[in-house]
Amino acid sequence: MEQILSREIKAGTRFFTLTVDKEDLSEIYPGFFRYTLAVRSGDAAIALFRTNTYEYAPGVPLRAEEVTLEKADRWEKDLQANADEFLSGLKSELKTPVQIPHVDVVIVQASPRADGNSSTLAQWAEVAAREAGMEVDVIYPHDMDIHECIGCYQCFNAGTCIYDDDMIGIIAQVNSCRLLIICTPVYTNTVPGNLKLMIDRFQEYFAAQSLDLAQTGKTKGIILSVAGRPGQENFTCIKKVLTSFMNIAGIRPAGDVFIDGVDRVHDIREIEGLRERVQALVENCLKS
Ligand SMILES: Cc1cc2nc3c(=O)[nH]c(=O)nc-3n(C[C@H](O)[C@H](O)[C@H](O)COP(=O)(O)O)c2cc1C
Repeated sequence: MEQILSREIKAGTRFFTLTVDKEDLSEIYPGFFRYTLAVRSGDAAIALFRTNTYEYAPGVPLRAEEVTLEKADRWEKDLQANADEFLSGLKSELKTPVQIPHVDVVIVQASPRADGNSSTLAQWAEVAAREAGMEVDVIYPHDMDIHECIGCYQCFNAGTCIYDDDMIGIIAQVNSCRLLIICTPVYTNTVPGNLKLMIDRFQEYFAAQSLDLAQTGKTKGIILSVAGRPGQENFTCIKKVLTSFMNIAGIRPAGDVFIDGVDRVHDIREIEGLRERVQALVENCLKS
């Protein structure tokens, strides 16, 4: 972290410090720098603005550093003109935090087929978790309001996304649960669109880690997946995509069950011993 500006500001009888810090995050992405403008009263930061180089396309005349320094000049003038007005203006920009109920186990049922194979897997997993005394929530991304990630990189400024949608609840629950179970069909060799929308939005969690705002390593993850074609190679992509998601989201992969050669609704109920296998995996993950 390099401090590129530090000014003492006298506003009436009060004193503030205005600073701009530049962070080199090129280990995450090449050429990625984040700028933090802060106003401090004593040790406490009472106003904060962040921006980063990835927000500015080459064709745009603005650059992250210039934007931050210009804002620093504006904040200095506003503070000197009327510190109370400046500070009350900041308060009105604060969002009210959303209250999310905590659960022990989150099950994601990613098939749009309401009573298909993934849904059966989700039911088996839910029963196993409830029998182990856990609080469980089953979520259906295809029925939820999830905006696609637009790659704006603004989550690296605040640790949160620009969209206020159902992902706020999903991320909060996944971060605080013990076990995440993803039940998904293979669609065109990978995950269905609704699940892809959801996992891409965990970029926000990755960004929050860069700001030391995220907890890590608490949640375990299981993948339960079905494919119509015969052969375990049909899950190659599913495994890669969902393992990579878990790495981004700070989730420890803890096992998977891949069932190939099933297409018809209820197909998997006919496979001997499968329900017991799924239940044993869930129980084992909840033991340790
Ligand atoms: C749009 C679509 C794409 C699919 N793509 C594949 C595929 O690439 N490979 C495969 O083995 N099965 C594929 N399937 C078959 C499903 O994975 C299979 O029918 C699965 O059992 C459906 O699970 P569900 O009952 O939970 O919806 C596809 C099905 C759909 C509807």
